[in-house]
Amino acid sequence: MAKALSLGTIAGAAVVLTTALLGSGATFASAPQLPGPKSEVKRGNAIYRNYCAACHGPQGEGLGENWKQRNTQGELPPPPHDDTGHTWRHSDEMLYRMIREGWRDPFNKTERLTMPAFEQILEAKEIEAVVEYLKTLWNEDQRTYQRKQTKKE
Ligand code: HEC
Repeated sequence: MAKALSLGTIAGAAVVLTTALLGSGATFASAPQLPGPKSEVKRGNAIYRNYCAACHGPQGEGLGENWKQRNTQGELPPPPHDDTGHTWRHSDEMLYRMIREGWRDPFNKTERLTMPAFEQILEAKEIEAVVEYLKTLWNEDQRTYQRKQTKKE
């Protein structure tokens, strides 16, 4: 009798657990603005800390200077990547390209790429992962906007 009861309890617990798992799965599926899988975001975060944080700030908050103001050389400083910046305005493809090939504001007074090219340093998958990490720094509205930009291309 005691045995039957404990088996019943285990079965009951399994049903509760399964329901809970299915429930949480459904919640994820209905939140399309979420960035990529957790493992990819984690990898992207590690890459970010190694290769990007020195210029764009440890949490993507920038370096505290006025990033919209050209410096004495006539160059724009690194922008923040979080929700105070404008990184979220670019499609995935544009972000990959800026990271792969580097970037400079066309109105900079110098010719050098102030945003270095990473194509010799990071593989395509690593660039994708770091972009998925950047998406975690934006708010819901920005993620929705960026998804639409990505679909347009
Ligand atoms: C040596 C400093 C430096 C490093 C390191 C660096 N960046 Fe940049 N990045 C810049 C600068 C400066 C700009 C702004 C260029 C401009 O608009 O003139 C920029 C711009 C960008 C942009 C365009 C942002 C926007 O909001 O329009 C992206 C995306 C970006 N960086 C991502 C990265 C990523 C990802 C890494 C690491 C893999 C990285 N950067 C490493 C300096 C750096």
